Amino acid sequence: MTRILVTGGTGYTGSHTCVELIQEGYEVIIMDNLYNSTDVVLNRIEEITGVKPKFYKTDLLDIEGLRTIFKENTIDAVIHFAGYKAVGESVEKPLDYYENNIAGSINLYQVMKEFGCKKIVFSSSATVYGDPQSVPIKEDFPVHTTNPYGTTKLMNEMILEDIAHADEEWTVLLLRYFNPIGAHPSGLIGEVPNGIPNNLVPYIARVANGQLEYLRVWGNDYPTVDGTGVRDYIHVVDLAKGHIKAVEYALHHHGVEKINLGTGKGYSVLEVLHAYEKACGKELPYQIMERRPGDIATCYADTTKAKELLGWEAQYGIDEMCKTSWDFTEKNPNGIV
Ligand code: UFG
Repeated sequence: MTRILVTGGTGYTGSHTCVELIQEGYEVIIMDNLYNSTDVVLNRIEEITGVKPKFYKTDLLDIEGLRTIFKENTIDAVIHFAGYKAVGESVEKPLDYYENNIAGSINLYQVMKEFGCKKIVFSSSATVYGDPQSVPIKEDFPVHTTNPYGTTKLMNEMILEDIAHADEEWTVLLLRYFNPIGAHPSGLIGEVPNGIPNNLVPYIARVANGQLEYLRVWGNDYPTVDGTGVRDYIHVVDLAKGHIKAVEYALHHHGVEKINLGTGKGYSVLEVLHAYEKACGKELPYQIMERRPGDIATCYADTTKAKELLGWEAQYGIDEMCKTSWDFTEKNPNGIV
């Protein structure tokens, strides 16, 4: 059986990917420090798949802990999700971000090398494109970051590319996600942000369940369909399935590939809000505010490469994304506990 180590496997995208991996017949080993998640997710994965993955509560900064995982298990490939991910926090605490996301990741790559495991799928982000010159965004567009979080994603990409150039036995897939939203159709796993959410859909979800009063729409004077920001929202289950295709590809090829994972369609903030209103059957209040510093007008993917190289394409539409988010929110008003 092919054995995959998933770092950050109890997190949002990580947990959905573990479910898909198990359902495709892979053996999954999860490593997570539970900084931003809970081990209850392991029970939820078991409820969905019938399999409880082997779990190591280990921090990437603990290199001996990483070695233990590789000593005790023969790992065929790694999917690396673990990392801090809040843009605003990264501006406040850059050193924490560089230590965790860069030094921690280097530990992982060192240990992979030591144990001869040379296949990795890395969780990157469309944030590496900064403010793109045009849309849809293709993988060969220039890269540029505007905050330490984004820089840690780009630096990891560069480090992994260099590793693969120095040793051609490596396979590195750099998956650049657009905006993952939604939840597993079972309602058992989904996104659980810490504190007041920064991202659009988790915020709307809390307006819908009455925990927050109204949505603050960050600006309506962008050059878009209705003046509000446009993004490429992708269902987290589609994203997870993209990882399965990426692992399959990595197991049979060598070299480095950068691949966008998005739907290729953009929706404005108000379009998402209205789709969510339909999903929850309520009118959701909002107020137009000033632009949020650092935001761009429009961002969506050119998805040709993912289709051609991986044979992958997103299936879910915006209504299902909102529906599954709302279903998860209703079923888990206090998060995954
Ligand atoms: N928005 C609001 N109100 C809110 C939250 C968001 O109007 O309360 C708007 C934003 O202005 C933007 C859109 O909704 O137009 C999406 O905002 P998000 O914060 O959900 O997502 P971003 O596109 O800003 O950022 C996301 C991830 C980052 C990642 C980036 C890369 O959060 O981690 O995509 O594409 F780097």
